[in-house]
Amino acid sequence: MLPDDLFRTVPALRTDRLDLVPLGPEHLEGTLALLSDPEALRLTGTRQSFSREAVIAWLGSLSAQHDRADWAVIRREDGAHIGEVVLNDVSPEDETTGFRIALSIEHAGKGYGTETTRAVVAFALEAGLHRVELEVYAFNPRAVRAYEKAGFVVEGRRRDALLWEGERVDAIMMAVVADG
Ligand SMILES: CC(C)(COP(=O)(O)OP(=O)(O)OC[C@H]1O[C@@H](n2cnc3c(N)ncnc32)[C@H](O)[C@@H]1OP(=O)(O)O)[C@@H](O)C(=O)NCCC(=O)NCCS
Repeated sequence: MLPDDLFRTVPALRTDRLDLVPLGPEHLEGTLALLSDPEALRLTGTRQSFSREAVIAWLGSLSAQHDRADWAVIRREDGAHIGEVVLNDVSPEDETTGFRIALSIEHAGKGYGTETTRAVVAFALEAGLHRVELEVYAFNPRAVRAYEKAGFVVEGRRRDALLWEGERVDAIMMAVVADG
């Protein structure tokens, strides 16, 4: 069994073009921008709206949350904060974790999502996690493709899991397992 505080320290991760740095209060403006991006909200099925105060409190709380690892995705060439990625819903007993990512739409389709996902999955497996899982809505084939490129496999489908503006949408379940 893995420790409950698996993510007591979250390391920065580096890819060819990106720095993934632990998400914190210094990422307020970028986080607010992401949370006001209607297309990113739709693609993640996010209905909730977040006040500036709530986001400040959330970012300030992350360093004390040792059961999840959140990173800001920073483009190295210009320092732009282009998104965020997280390992959450960790089960130390089962050695499994959830995965979520959101880039701002203006930065989508340039390979950054695949690059980020590969790095975070590699980190998770190196940390001793056996399984990394996610759900993605069927109206998001770009995300499905990026996840497949990063090693995720489709395992199933929760039919009509989301009702978004009158349309029912399936949720596709995908996962990577360590020796799969
Ligand atoms: C999902 C997300 C992380 C993917 O990252 P990305 O940088 O945009 O994706 P990439 O450029 O790495 O890869 C996209 C792939 O999908 C393909 N693609 C793009 N649009 C597609 C479509 N409509 N149908 C099928 N494939 C598509 C691209 O061609 C590319 O594959 P290829 O390299 O084989 O050509 C990013 O778009 C994002 O954060 N979007 C907003 C929020 C979101 O959707 N989050 C995920 C919720 S589960």
